Amino acid sequence: MEEKSRIIVVSNRLPLILKKTDDGKTEAEKGVGGLVTAMAPVLKNRNGIWIGWPGYVQKEDVDDSMLSAIHSAGSGYNVKSVMLSSEELRNYYEGFSNSILWPLFHDFTDKCIFLPEYWASYQVVNKKFALIVSRNLEDLDFIWVHDYQLMLVGEKLRKMHKQNRIGFFLHIPFPPFDTFARCPWRFELLFAMLEYDIIGFHTIQNKRNFIACIKKVVKQAEIDAEEEFDATVSELRINNRVVRIGVFPIGIDYNDFFLQAWDSEIYKRSKQIRNNVPGAKILLGVDRLDYTKGIPEKLKAFQRFLTRFPKFHKKVHFIQLVVPSRKQITAYADMKLKIEQLVGEINGMFGTDDWLPVQYMFRALDRNELISLYRACEIAFITPLKDGMNLVSKEYCACNIEEKGVLILSEFAGAAQQFYQDAILVNPYDVEGTSSAIYRALNMPLEEKNQRMRNLRADIKKKDIFWWLNSFLNTAIEKNLSSFPRVDEYFPDEPARENMIT
Ligand code: ADP
Ligand code: F6P
Repeated sequence: MEEKSRIIVVSNRLPLILKKTDDGKTEAEKGVGGLVTAMAPVLKNRNGIWIGWPGYVQKEDVDDSMLSAIHSAGSGYNVKSVMLSSEELRNYYEGFSNSILWPLFHDFTDKCIFLPEYWASYQVVNKKFALIVSRNLEDLDFIWVHDYQLMLVGEKLRKMHKQNRIGFFLHIPFPPFDTFARCPWRFELLFAMLEYDIIGFHTIQNKRNFIACIKKVVKQAEIDAEEEFDATVSELRINNRVVRIGVFPIGIDYNDFFLQAWDSEIYKRSKQIRNNVPGAKILLGVDRLDYTKGIPEKLKAFQRFLTRFPKFHKKVHFIQLVVPSRKQITAYADMKLKIEQLVGEINGMFGTDDWLPVQYMFRALDRNELISLYRACEIAFITPLKDGMNLVSKEYCACNIEEKGVLILSEFAGAAQQFYQDAILVNPYDVEGTSSAIYRALNMPLEEKNQRMRNLRADIKKKDIFWWLNSFLNTAIEKNLSSFPRVDEYFPDEPARENMIT
C-alpha cells in the first residue's frame, strides 16, 4: 500500500453505540461489529476518517454534547457525522434504501414502492454524504463507500471534480438484469456505479449479474469473456476508464469469537441453556426481523418436521431469536405478526405441560448471551430466502469449539458459495425438503459432524474479516491503478444516453 494515502470510510451508519449515562448525558461507544474491528487499526495507522449517520434524527436544537461524544468515539481515528432530518430518514432510508433497493436487490419486487420522492431524497442525501467527504478530503486519500444506501456518493464526488481513487462494496446481493431493469432509475444507478474505481461483491454470481447489467446499457463496455465469468477480479474498460470488479466474501473476526467461546462464563451459561431442556437437542435460528430471512418458511418446515416425525416430540427444542429492525416499514411490522402467529400455532398444536417446541425471542441480545446460545445448540438453522452473505452462520461455526454442531444453510445465502460442501444446504421454499434436512442433521453420525465442522471452521478462519479487508484494499490500492488511462475531463454531468438501450 502507498505510504501516505489516508482512508476515508463512508457508511450509512457510524459504527458506534449511543448510551445514556446515569446523570442523563449521552455517551458514544465504539461499535462491536467485525467491520469496525478490522477497519479500526487501518484507520488509526493511516490517520483515517469514518463518515456516517449516528443513528438519530436531528432535532431543531442540535445537542452539541452528543455530537462531540460521537466525534470522539473513534478512539484513534476521526469520526464525522452526517445528520439526517426525519423527512430524509423517511424518504432516503425507509424509502429509497429499504423500500426500493433492499427488496429489489433481494428479488422481492412485489415489496418495492417506486416513489419519485424517494429517489429525489436518495440523491440529496447521497450528495450530503459526498459533501462531508469532500470537506475532509486530501488529494491522495482513498475513499471507501459501503453499501446500497450510498451508491451515488462516488458520482457526486466526481461532479465535485474529486479525482481520488474511490471504492465501493455492496454488502447485499446484486440482482439479475430482469429484476434490476424494473427500477425506474436503473440507468442512473448503473452509471453512477461506474464512477467508482473498484466495486466489490460477496459472490461471483453478484459480479456476473452486475457485469451483465452494465453490458446491456453501455455498448462499448469491454471485458474479456473469460474474466467476465470466472475471474475473482475483472477489469471493465469503458470510455478510457477501467473499473475493477471483484469478489470479496466478507468474513468475521474469527479469533475473537473463538476465544470468547472458550470463556468459562460462556461455558456455564451454555450449560444452563442446555439444562433448561433436558434430553432435547437445540436448533437455533438467529435473524434480524426481515422478510428476506425466511423465518415463516423456516417455522413451517419445523412444523412439518414435527408432523412427519412424532418420535422427535420432546426431543427437539427450536430457539428462534429475532432482532428488531426497520420497524417503521409496514412490510417489517407485518412480518412480525406473521411470525408470532406461526409460533403460537406450532406451540398450540404440539406443546405439552413439559415441552414448548418453539422458544421465540424478539430482542437484541448482548454478545455473551449470543455466543452462549451459539455454544449451546446442536444445529444452526439459517434459511434466508436471499442474503448477501449471512454472518450468523460464520459466527456459529467459529463458536462451535467442540466441532459437534451442524449447519443447515439456505442455498440462497452468499455463505452457501463457501460452505456448499460442508453445510446441509436447503431450498427454504421447499418445506418438505427443509424438514428432511432437520431430520438428517439430527441423525448425522458424530464423525461426519466433526469432519464437516472442522472444514467449515478452517475456511472461516482463513477468510476472516482481516483477509477480506486486505483483499479489497490490495486490489484497490496496491496494484497501481494510475497506470490505467483516466480522462481528466470525464465528469458525467450528462450520462451518455446514446449508450443506453431503452
Ligand atoms: P444482516 O446483516 O442482514 O442483519 P448477518 O447475519 O450478516 O445479517 O449479520 C447479523 C449480525 O447481527 C451478526 O453479526 C449477529 O451477531 C448480529 N445479531 C444477530 N442477532 C442478534 C441478536 N439477537 N442480538 C445481538 N446481535 C445479533
Ligand atoms: O446487510 C445489510 C445491512 O445494512 C447491514 O450492514 C446492517 O447490519 C443491516 O443491514 C441492518 O440495517 P439497518 O442499518 O437498516 O438497521
